[in-house]
Amino acid sequence: MTRIDYRVRAAGPLQGTIRVPGDKSISHRAVILAALAEGQSVVSGLLEGEDVLGTVGALRALGVAMTGPEGGRLTVQGVGLRGLQAPSGPLDLGNSGTSMRLLAGLLSAQSFATRLVGDESLMKRPMERVAAPLRLMGADITTGPNGRPPLVIRGTGALTAIRYALPVASAQVKSAILLAGLTARGSTEVIEPAPSRDHTERMLAGFGYPVTRAGREVRLTGNAGALRAGAWEVPGDLSSAAFFLVAASIRRGSRVVLTRVGMNPTRTGVIAILRAMGAQIDVHGETHVSGEPVADLTVSAQPLRGVVIPPELVPLAIDEFPAIFVAAACAQGTTILHGAAELRVKESDRLLVMARGLRALGVTVEEYPDGLAITGSPVRGGVIDSGGDHRIAMAFAVAGLCADGPVVVRDCRNVATSFPGFVEDARALGFDLTVETS
Ligand code: S3P
Repeated sequence: MTRIDYRVRAAGPLQGTIRVPGDKSISHRAVILAALAEGQSVVSGLLEGEDVLGTVGALRALGVAMTGPEGGRLTVQGVGLRGLQAPSGPLDLGNSGTSMRLLAGLLSAQSFATRLVGDESLMKRPMERVAAPLRLMGADITTGPNGRPPLVIRGTGALTAIRYALPVASAQVKSAILLAGLTARGSTEVIEPAPSRDHTERMLAGFGYPVTRAGREVRLTGNAGALRAGAWEVPGDLSSAAFFLVAASIRRGSRVVLTRVGMNPTRTGVIAILRAMGAQIDVHGETHVSGEPVADLTVSAQPLRGVVIPPELVPLAIDEFPAIFVAAACAQGTTILHGAAELRVKESDRLLVMARGLRALGVTVEEYPDGLAITGSPVRGGVIDSGGDHRIAMAFAVAGLCADGPVVVRDCRNVATSFPGFVEDARALGFDLTVETS
């Protein structure tokens, strides 16, 4: 397969206005819930990244007719909660942990068997965290060696609700249980150790399915009615915007506007952390789309300083740490993160791969089992391996803005999983970024 590398050189100030692509988490859920609804739904602003296309492909294989996506628009003919059909082969979910874990919940409730597989990275990710509670609901589900994929699910069509305290704050596991609970007998209750993104709860309610939330507990009763089809707009992805929030903060003289970005409070930890570091991020034009808060963000360059990241912000910024670590490398002083061992089981071991990459650029990094300490230093040019991880590839492209020589980021193909237009958007803002293929 062709390898894609980025070469980034420090450029002038970043300027301009960008609409980042649709939110990945919300896009997956919009496709799944529209498929389970009765009638035709139209989703707009859908992220057309490979991960979401994986969910679209899986649902098509399960018998759901869809048109698109094109220009972010996907029309879905919902089949109802019991209308999915057995696929003719394994479902390949590529790089997408969200697809595999959410679909595991949904497929546990069916009366046919499925096998879920993925790419090299996904085949290494932990799946017992989702299989264990689903088994408690009565699902017949096996994982591969060490609790990794493939997942083999032999649906019995008869699940029973559980009350389940999540051992780790994971929106994917919470969502899998809730999706399984839609047709389970009784009241499914999930208790979180800390708040994780709540899109599934909001969107189920938006599709007309009753969900109650009290503190850290989410509850729904199985077979409480149909999901109502309708129009759904996906806001911009703050996780994608995060790269430009950091880029414009660290590149002197920059001012960048990011429009219609999702501002769900379970996602905005990155803004709180960057502000604590001294970033100037102004929020304006607040409104709501499809039950989610959105706003325009203006970010202007400011000198950053190191901070101790409060542990309660970790789940609220979990996907943004690669970008935050680059901000820390360009800040004055030391930034310390603990309580983030989850970063070791993302698309790569993000603590290890980020520490290695930052060190290759001359940055002082100490690695802990559950975090990093990064001391801001002059950043050198160098060659970085992204570990095939989309967010690490984009984070090091941003690091290239403040390096004293070119930064070459190897293996950036997976940027297409979450941010297909990254290179074009980065260049439009003023990045000096060339793509090299080999
Ligand atoms: C996601 C939840 C998070 C996040 C992932 C998307 C989701 O994972 O890291 O990128 O859409 O539910 P965990 O549930 O493993 O924390």
